[in-house]
Amino acid sequence: MQNLIGQHDWLELLDKLESMHTLTEAEWVALIDGRTPELSEELLKRARRTCDEVYGKRVFIRGLIELSSYCRNDCLYCGIRRGNKEAVRYRLSNESVLSCCEQGHELGFRTFVLQGGEDPYYTDDRVSELVGLIKKRYPDCAVTLSLGEKSRSSYQRFFDAGADRYLLRHETANEEHYSSLHPEGMSAAVRKQCLRDLRDIGYQVGSGFMVGSPGQDAKRLAEDMKFLESLNPHMVGIGPFIPHSKTPYANEPGGTLELTLFMIGCLRLMLPKTLLPSTTALASIHPQGHEMGMAAGANVIMPNLSPVEFREAYDLYEGKAHSGLEAAENLKAVINKLSAVGYEVVVDRGDSLVL
Ligand code: 5AD
Repeated sequence: MQNLIGQHDWLELLDKLESMHTLTEAEWVALIDGRTPELSEELLKRARRTCDEVYGKRVFIRGLIELSSYCRNDCLYCGIRRGNKEAVRYRLSNESVLSCCEQGHELGFRTFVLQGGEDPYYTDDRVSELVGLIKKRYPDCAVTLSLGEKSRSSYQRFFDAGADRYLLRHETANEEHYSSLHPEGMSAAVRKQCLRDLRDIGYQVGSGFMVGSPGQDAKRLAEDMKFLESLNPHMVGIGPFIPHSKTPYANEPGGTLELTLFMIGCLRLMLPKTLLPSTTALASIHPQGHEMGMAAGANVIMPNLSPVEFREAYDLYEGKAHSGLEAAENLKAVINKLSAVGYEVVVDRGDSLVL
């Protein structure tokens, strides 16, 4: 591969990505490493245009309920890892979750995302019961689970209980990189298998990764793109890695706004029909993060619907935004902010167009 970094070839790569929705791994590396502010601007413009063609200016909202800050896992980047003895631990009761849903439904949410650490308290029976309760009370709503790695039979049970969607970021597609971010015994292969199982069962599946995680480079991002192309998920959540002081990666540099927006744009062009959230992590590193994410091709936001008293404890990374525009009760302000720049926040389940 010669001279791919030159501007002309770069634009050819962009044309190919936009029209064919695919690049080879080497082409991804060239596109990512060869980006300049001017070229990126062009990519983001095309990504937004693609989103407009597929979804219009509609922005979907999901109410995020952080179920538990207990975690049996010890991921090296995450603030609620088991090894962080200073983390504040809590778990929500069914009543508390249902009251979050009630508040959320009134605000206009038609998707509830139950996200939590890998907390053994939430047995298959308990999760299934909770899903059943929510679906019974809110049959017009989608229930999304984000509870980590489980066996295929557990995923099947949750699905049978009524769960519609499952979010599980693959974090990195590269096995060696995966091992450097996760405790012994975890592997990219298992994570990928979980995602394939979920898709197979019939869930709408969300995957994704952190931008700028320690050890990431263009080659590994290229592998992420190839993996996501093959998985073809209904949603892809990406946000910058943000170091947390009580983790082994406390002193690593965080991911940048610039690269995060660039990767959102790349994802929109590769997977035009996928849902792309403008994530809390992105909003945590820049006050206009959400709008910038939308301008790069994102079309989902996930405000925090957790009980206010527990929000601080779900402390994945330093400075995680949980008030202001991240708070579901301030949805009106988000709607105003986004409508000022031409978007329409809709009351809708917001199902993905990916089949
Ligand atoms: N910075 C950014 N994102 C993080 N996550 C966990 N820890 C961090 C961090 N330090 C992300 C992971 C996980 C999601 C729930 O939060 O990608 O999948």
